[in-house]
Amino acid sequence: MRTLIRHGTAVTPEGARALDVLVDGERIARIGEAIEAPADRVVDATGKYVLPGGIDVHTHLDMPYGDTVTSDDFATGTAAAACGGTTCIVDFAVQTQGRPLREALETWQRKAEGKAAVDYGFHVIVCDAGPSLEGEMDALVAEGVPSFKLFTAYPGRLMVDDAVIFRALRRSAANGATVMVHAENGGVIEVLQREALAAGRTAPREHARTRPALAEAEATHRVIALAELAGAPVYIVHVSTAEAAEEIAAARGRGVAAYGETCPQYLLLSDDLYDGAGFEGAKYVMSPPLRDRHAQERLWRALAAGELQAVATDHCPFRMSDQKSLGRDDFTKIPGGAPGIETRMSLLFDAGVRGGRFDIERFVALTATEPAKLFGLWPRKGALTPGADADLLVWDPERTLTLSAATLHMRVDYSPFEGRVVTGAPDLVLSRGQVVAEGGRFVGHPGAGSFVRRAPRAS
Ligand code: URP
Ligand code: ZN
Ligand code: ZN
Repeated sequence: MRTLIRHGTAVTPEGARALDVLVDGERIARIGEAIEAPADRVVDATGKYVLPGGIDVHTHLDMPYGDTVTSDDFATGTAAAACGGTTCIVDFAVQTQGRPLREALETWQRKAEGKAAVDYGFHVIVCDAGPSLEGEMDALVAEGVPSFKLFTAYPGRLMVDDAVIFRALRRSAANGATVMVHAENGGVIEVLQREALAAGRTAPREHARTRPALAEAEATHRVIALAELAGAPVYIVHVSTAEAAEEIAAARGRGVAAYGETCPQYLLLSDDLYDGAGFEGAKYVMSPPLRDRHAQERLWRALAAGELQAVATDHCPFRMSDQKSLGRDDFTKIPGGAPGIETRMSLLFDAGVRGGRFDIERFVALTATEPAKLFGLWPRKGALTPGADADLLVWDPERTLTLSAATLHMRVDYSPFEGRVVTGAPDLVLSRGQVVAEGGRFVGHPGAGSFVRRAPRAS
């Protein structure tokens, strides 16, 4: 199957230029001016961009959470991703306390196999480190899983101490893995939560009040210091505050390999949403919580300046009807997380590129190239280059969508962006040369996606 995409503006590592793209089978065969070649399908991309498919390195599909589970599985979640222009995800496989890390990978492989419609990889979450941590990490790196996530929050469930983070970082310096950290001070948050409940403050707004910005900045500072001590890079997930962004920028300024991602919700939504009527604020219960407009502006600047490297989603959907409602009388019981796997690309294009905050090349860097490089997917994915997987988008910069749970494909009963109008959406989405979405409709197949073995950092 050969597809020729003509007359578009292709965004390649050399920049945005009028170039045709020829796809042969699963790969990009050629990129050049006015390509003449036989093809089974010719796509006219006049007025459109041709972009590498989006890569979302932070998703939680089919993830148990207490007695419930995120509402998208690998079939529905990756179909939604495809509709929004994301052609590769890296999901989190969570260690069960007392069990080997490898078991987590096997469990998540079973969840994804036969279901995922686009390619996927896994980071492994370390929540219980025994003496074999270093050896277990080495073995997973050798199997194409070169990234691990650790938490400084959620005591008793996911939180690990500084010693474990330091050990993981030190090992990653040797084996080429990348350590990712959810950085909030879990001890401080636990005290504040207990006090709120004891005072009868149980509503969703207490979620934000008990997770202050400084608790994120402190943990970010500490984790970066641990990385410096270990001589290892570190990647801070879902940065939500100006202060945490400053910590990363300052560390980078003194030569530390500190990296960070943020998410559309932290760029576009603010904490006044917790004051919504009744239980509405539960839609935005996620960790870290939404912050104020000052934080949003600082995060946008950090993305434009290269101080943050990626925009991921932290897609972690729970239905309002029967999942978020578990915390109706106690905000600490509201499952934390929000849906976003489908809306990331359009939201970021609309507010970032059309909003004049950065150019189309930076958009591609943030949504595909930089995450691909940081997490061992590049050069196979993340850039329009001959020989790369033909994961690509024909992107219409003028198509306008009104975001709504009723028309989006994520299996959840609300959207945090309900009613928001965005301009910019994928007309055509190819995953390894196969059309998986067209005009916002899913036309792919569950099971067509494959596990991608990722490479460790070259040391
Ligand atoms: O509230 C959130 N973000 N839930 C997902 C798990 C995490 O902390 O990333
Ligand atoms: Zn997290
Ligand atoms: Zn997450």
